[in-house]
Amino acid sequence: MNRVVLLSLCFLWTRTGSSHRLLGPDSGSGSGSGRNSSGSLDVSVSVSVDVDLSSAIRRVDRRYLSVTVDASLAAEERFMYLLSSPKIRTLAKALTPAFLRFGGTRQDFMVFTPQGFHKDSGVTADPSCDGVELPSWLEDKLKKEWTQQQLILMKEDLQRKYTRVKFTESTVDLLHSFTNCSGMDLIFGLNALLRTADNRWNSSNARSLLQYCESRRYRMSWELGNEPNSYEKKAGIRVDGEQLGRDFTHLRELMSESKLYRDAGLYGPDVGQPRDHRIDILKGFLKSGARVVNACTWHHYYVNGRDASLDDFLDPVVLDTLTVKTNKVLQEVNLVSPGKKVWLGETSSAYGGGAAGLSDTFVAGFMWLDKLGLGAALGLDVVMRQVFVGSGSYHLVDDNLDPLPDYWLSVLYKRLVGPEVLKIEAFSNFVQSKRVRLYLHCSNTKSYRRGAVTLISMNLSKKPARISVPALVSSSTVEAFVLQSDQPGERGLYSRSVKLNGEVLKMVDDKTLPDLKGSRLPPAKHLQLPAYSLAFFVFIEAQAAACQ
Ligand SMILES: *[C@@H]1O[C@H](CO)[C@@H](O)[C@H](O)[C@H]1NC(C)=O
Ligand SMILES: *[C@@H]1O[C@H](CO)[C@@H](O)[C@H](O)[C@H]1NC(C)=O
Ligand SMILES: *[C@@H]1O[C@H](CO)[C@@H](O)[C@H](O)[C@H]1NC(C)=O
Ligand SMILES: *[C@@H]1O[C@H](CO)[C@@H](O)[C@H](O)[C@H]1NC(C)=O
Repeated sequence: MNRVVLLSLCFLWTRTGSSHRLLGPDSGSGSGSGRNSSGSLDVSVSVSVDVDLSSAIRRVDRRYLSVTVDASLAAEERFMYLLSSPKIRTLAKALTPAFLRFGGTRQDFMVFTPQGFHKDSGVTADPSCDGVELPSWLEDKLKKEWTQQQLILMKEDLQRKYTRVKFTESTVDLLHSFTNCSGMDLIFGLNALLRTADNRWNSSNARSLLQYCESRRYRMSWELGNEPNSYEKKAGIRVDGEQLGRDFTHLRELMSESKLYRDAGLYGPDVGQPRDHRIDILKGFLKSGARVVNACTWHHYYVNGRDASLDDFLDPVVLDTLTVKTNKVLQEVNLVSPGKKVWLGETSSAYGGGAAGLSDTFVAGFMWLDKLGLGAALGLDVVMRQVFVGSGSYHLVDDNLDPLPDYWLSVLYKRLVGPEVLKIEAFSNFVQSKRVRLYLHCSNTKSYRRGAVTLISMNLSKKPARISVPALVSSSTVEAFVLQSDQPGERGLYSRSVKLNGEVLKMVDDKTLPDLKGSRLPPAKHLQLPAYSLAFFVFIEAQAAACQ
């Protein structure tokens, strides 16, 4: 009844050289504590692990974990002021370095309508970033109104009827001030549905926006269009990939006329995940546009938010679908433009705004952390989480501007995980082992000395797991960061609070995050990986050659 199933993972750390295939205890090659942890039990899972600490298999962008703000926030311009909340800025700072992409369905309905004079809103004027803040009465008012606004936006999405949105200098000023003051790099998504009679992109509105941004000396980069594969459904306009590539070429020419944007980033085409004609759009785009973009972007969601279940969020088969889609995109890109970076330009658990009660709770962490781990290993260079704050239920920060479990997971990832991806492979005859998912990176050198490695691990099952570390690693101190729900069992999966090493995480005040302390494990102890847990284990003295 209360049978505890233990899972032993033996790690052999090769400090200098080659990759070693290690077999678990049942094969007889386990050693020390590893052998006993499963040997004394009636049910055991034997997993063998391959790690190679001699060299990194790849290196991702230092802004690998990045975030988005959906353009729907600007549908009513006043909501952009939420980005001036001191709390939001504090939360954003902790996620840097990162890109902030401003885009989404409504970007293709937005028209820049300058007021011609520069309104100093007071909120944004201070270039030193610690001037006037959003007053708390206004923040409260906007938060209340945003709840109503979300209903209107949702209705538009359901009916796929989008109205043209006019935005002024104020939207751009607020976005720039938010990103600049929190230390993020802004990517602005331009409207690609402004078309000429012969279905080319009409760049005149973008030109005036670029001129404004240049006049304000705003350092930023650009995108053009969002999910062009669904333009017909959203707007009754069909744009093929090759034309889109020519539109990007036109935008690049426009940028090259500007001193400030000549060398700025341009990313696209932000297509949906490969399926049917979406792959044709990508192929066509690459033919005529690959040359002018700095990275090729696509979007990924595992499931439909309207019918997603708890089981989907914990299903290794669902998590593995990312591999198939990613490999497909990488293959297309490498065919036409070998070496071109590939980004997830917008991604989350479930499309359609997320799955309410799942995308915003503890269980969402499994999809998010697995995407980060798997994406880096497969060859993605940047992953932009839809969304940091605002639309839907897949946000990192909720409508009261309080951080959700995925926010804390993201902050820990930033602090602990470095850009170098190391090889780790787990082999087992047992299907269950698919439910323990492991990724290995060099540790973030801002937090740890060189040579340290961070093991990213997840246990998707009800039962506790135990990782036994053989004597070979016992010389390395381990710092553990184990995230669990604040409530036990399956109920806990739906929780909006998360515990780090047993303590519930919450902000100290609007300008202060709690200390995110690891717990030091004495050498040669088992690593505990409880049921339904997410964990980072930092092997401080691993002395990995790949991480020197
Ligand atoms: C394994 O562990 C059990 C319980 O912790 C202990 O009684 C037993 O002696 C150990 N066996 C070996 C071979 O170390
Ligand atoms: C913010 O703006 C200032 C002034 O333009 C610039 O020096 C700085 O690099 C910017 N920081 C970021 C993160 O964009
Ligand atoms: C592009 O749009 C502008 C502004 O709406 C319009 O004045 C201009 O005629 C358009 N150009 C073309 C070629 O369609
Ligand atoms: C968690 O640990 C239990 C016990 O070893 C194991 O049965 C289960 O498969 C693990 N969960 C995952 C997701 O692997």
